[in-house]
Amino acid sequence: MDIKIRKSSPLQIKTSCMVIGLCEKDFTAPLLKELDQKLGGLLLKAKRNGEFSAKEGEQILFQPAGHLPAERVLLVGLGQAEKITDEKVRRAAGQAMNMVTERNFGQMAFALPFQYAENEHTAPFQALTEGLLLASYRYDLFLGEETKNARKLPKAVTLIITEGQDKKSCEATVENARKICQAVILTRDLVNAPGNIKSPAYLAEQAQAAAKQSTLNCTVLGQKELAEEGCGALLGVAQGSAREPHLIILEHKGGHKDEAPVALVGKGVTFDSGGISLKPGEKMDEMKMDMAGGAAVIGTMLAASLLELPVNLVGIVPAVENMPSSTAYRPGDILTSLSGQTIEVLNTDAEGRLILADALTYAKRYEPKLVVDLATLTGACIIALGHHATAVLGNDQELVDALLEAGDDSGERLWQLPLWEDYDQQIKSDVADVKNTGGRPAGIITAAAFLKKFAKDFNWAHLDIAGTAWRDQSTPYTPKGGTGVGVRLLIAFLKNLSNTN
Ligand code: BES
Ligand code: MN
Ligand code: ZN
Repeated sequence: MDIKIRKSSPLQIKTSCMVIGLCEKDFTAPLLKELDQKLGGLLLKAKRNGEFSAKEGEQILFQPAGHLPAERVLLVGLGQAEKITDEKVRRAAGQAMNMVTERNFGQMAFALPFQYAENEHTAPFQALTEGLLLASYRYDLFLGEETKNARKLPKAVTLIITEGQDKKSCEATVENARKICQAVILTRDLVNAPGNIKSPAYLAEQAQAAAKQSTLNCTVLGQKELAEEGCGALLGVAQGSAREPHLIILEHKGGHKDEAPVALVGKGVTFDSGGISLKPGEKMDEMKMDMAGGAAVIGTMLAASLLELPVNLVGIVPAVENMPSSTAYRPGDILTSLSGQTIEVLNTDAEGRLILADALTYAKRYEPKLVVDLATLTGACIIALGHHATAVLGNDQELVDALLEAGDDSGERLWQLPLWEDYDQQIKSDVADVKNTGGRPAGIITAAAFLKKFAKDFNWAHLDIAGTAWRDQSTPYTPKGGTGVGVRLLIAFLKNLSNTN
């Protein structure tokens, strides 16, 4: 989908659908008075009727019948001007894209003539582009041509800028947003891919493909190398599956060569049946998404490379399949992790923390300045926070604070939970250094307390994305299925980090 930028009045654009985003106070603006006149008073009538008053989420469509160059005018509400955020712009853009696509309008132009008019900062164009591109995404790889083609995206989208705005810098902002969206879409595609296709090897191939279309370096370790390394925890999980496990490593060298890298670690369980501690059948299909942390790491690495972020990064994705079989690991097994610490397995369904343990230990050899891991780690996270926030915990408050801030900046919000030593009690084992479950209370925290034992040597934060990586209901710019969560968050985090350095 082509996105062009034009400097013009929204009332002078020839298009099949002119979308205007506005706040509640904007009804008094001269532009809206003029629009109301061209619409024969219908706009102010709609306001009087309570049909449309520019509240957040409201939309109204007019057909100006020849009084304007545009065939249709779609107004989208952004709520109170004092409370406007990028996230509201993203949602409004997504909503408009959905209507234009559903009704097959063919074209659209989008203007935000008011709230950002006086300041030349181009942030809304990033949010706007993200809303448009992410809303237009569908996972349609396995749909027939006819079904696929029935959905008609607009062929052209024009973003309208006002007198005071600089076209060049807006274009650059849109281009950057496009790169971020490309990475989010790769992440969504990986998460949505079915388990029969998505083996650990497939994930590794996709990481290699991402490296090929960018400046990333990609290394993939197989079973033999992992055994030589001594990744006993990862290999324990993998041994029930006929598919070979892999450790995927991506590198981005955008910073000074002596600068310590940021390490990103993502859980890559390509299908989580639970293993011998088998999950119930209901919704087990959704466990193809259990590699969403790994997919977010691959996506973030791609985006960082495309954007040429001035930081050094290492992305590490342990990729395995968790299956029950006669070769599978069992409850009661004791595994020796890469760190040397032994782990008593009480539940083979608590596999994510096992593979992350070895991946975190592996990260240490890069002498990272900080490590962030992302994982669909616990069902408890969905119970605690639902689908609206990722849980964050860590051993360094400054890092957690920086992530919380990036969450607000990107709209991928985080909520912190404590990681007090008191919780360590729950994962003490009688026969090994640690056990892999902590019982029912505080499931998110005991999972993080487990990881903490493998992250002693660096500043570290853990993101539990179990509730945010997958949705069974669509929202304005996120259709059902994989959300691609983590990519926009981490890019915002890395941008902030490189600005403050
Ligand atoms: N992948 C699951 C967590 C999960 C559940 C993610 C639902 C997304 C949706 C994880 O491997 C798991 O099974 N965790 C167990 C841990 C328990 C056995 C300690 C859980 O949360 O039940
Ligand atoms: Mn599990
Ligand atoms: Zn899992």
